[in-house]
Amino acid sequence: MSTEPTLLQTLAKPVVFQMPRRLIAPPSWTMHAPLAMWLIEMLRPSVFVELGTFSGTSYCAFCQAVQHLSIPSKCYAVDTWKGDPHASMYGEDVFKELSAYHDANYASFSRLVREDFDSARSHFADGSIDLLHIDGYHTYDAVKHDFESWRPKLSNRGVVLFHDTNVHERDFAVAQLWDELKRQYQSIEVLHGHGLGILLVGSDVPAPLREVARHLIASGDDLRLFQDFFAHLGRACLLEVEDSQKRAEIRRLEERVVELERDGTKLLNRCAILEGEAQGLNQEVGRLALEIRKERAQPKGMLAPLRIMKRAVVGPRSE
Ligand SMILES: C[S@@+](CC[C@H](N)C(=O)[O-])C[C@H]1O[C@@H](n2cnc3c(N)ncnc32)[C@H](O)[C@@H]1O
Repeated sequence: MSTEPTLLQTLAKPVVFQMPRRLIAPPSWTMHAPLAMWLIEMLRPSVFVELGTFSGTSYCAFCQAVQHLSIPSKCYAVDTWKGDPHASMYGEDVFKELSAYHDANYASFSRLVREDFDSARSHFADGSIDLLHIDGYHTYDAVKHDFESWRPKLSNRGVVLFHDTNVHERDFAVAQLWDELKRQYQSIEVLHGHGLGILLVGSDVPAPLREVARHLIASGDDLRLFQDFFAHLGRACLLEVEDSQKRAEIRRLEERVVELERDGTKLLNRCAILEGEAQGLNQEVGRLALEIRKERAQPKGMLAPLRIMKRAVVGPRSE
């Protein structure tokens, strides 16, 4: 009987069933969290670098796995945190919120490098990076430049991830570069979550990962099993993000209801005061009407001296 683990046993590491802790918009990378965590376990990278972090969905999934598995990795997120024409330009609040979360959770092994990809490159020695995730600007020229300029930084265990290999719209062209690269290197690709390509670049990538890639290239069934396994886990993560967004919306609406109830109570109190004032005024009107009626009921003779006096002062036309 073979003692080799089956493909499913190789995939079903406990770490892949973790729910990513950082559930935040945009959710485009959320579905890849289980695969990111699996790769961290398979590669145990000494140095992990991400090019393009935005609000940190992908980066924090990698960091979560490093922390959970107690791997002695150094992790770096590189971004200007300004945006680009595909991700859209965004404000300072994105970096502020991420750094607060990051510093509270991962500062012991991770750094946020707020620089352009080109200028940040000089901080890394050649041959030092085991895992590189490229998720910056997605035109053909930009992604090719990111890959080629960072390739010398890869160690001989080096693996490169490309996000958006399955996006075929506007001038997104990771797919085009991916088609070229997968002919030159061993690779694995999943199609869900806009596509994620795993390129085994180094000559000494850990054997278990090479074995998985070899299996998937040899067998369509194994490839489908791999893709379905991570797509199903990814969907669970996406549902969790959607749930947490709905829960946040429910909390917001509940707070609004409390606010409206408070305003309603204030208005009811004001109504009660105005009603009291209106009752008082009604009573006053009733009292005056009674007085007028009484006065009109007086015999004419009793008022005659007053009328005579009035006519004398203001003239006959005022009667
Ligand atoms: C698609 S987003 C990254 C998404 C992220 N991985 C996630 O999980 O949500 C692309 C990011 O790359 C950054 N970026 C693009 N080109 C860059 C460059 N040349 N230098 C630094 N940052 C860049 C943008 O600021 C943007 O935040």
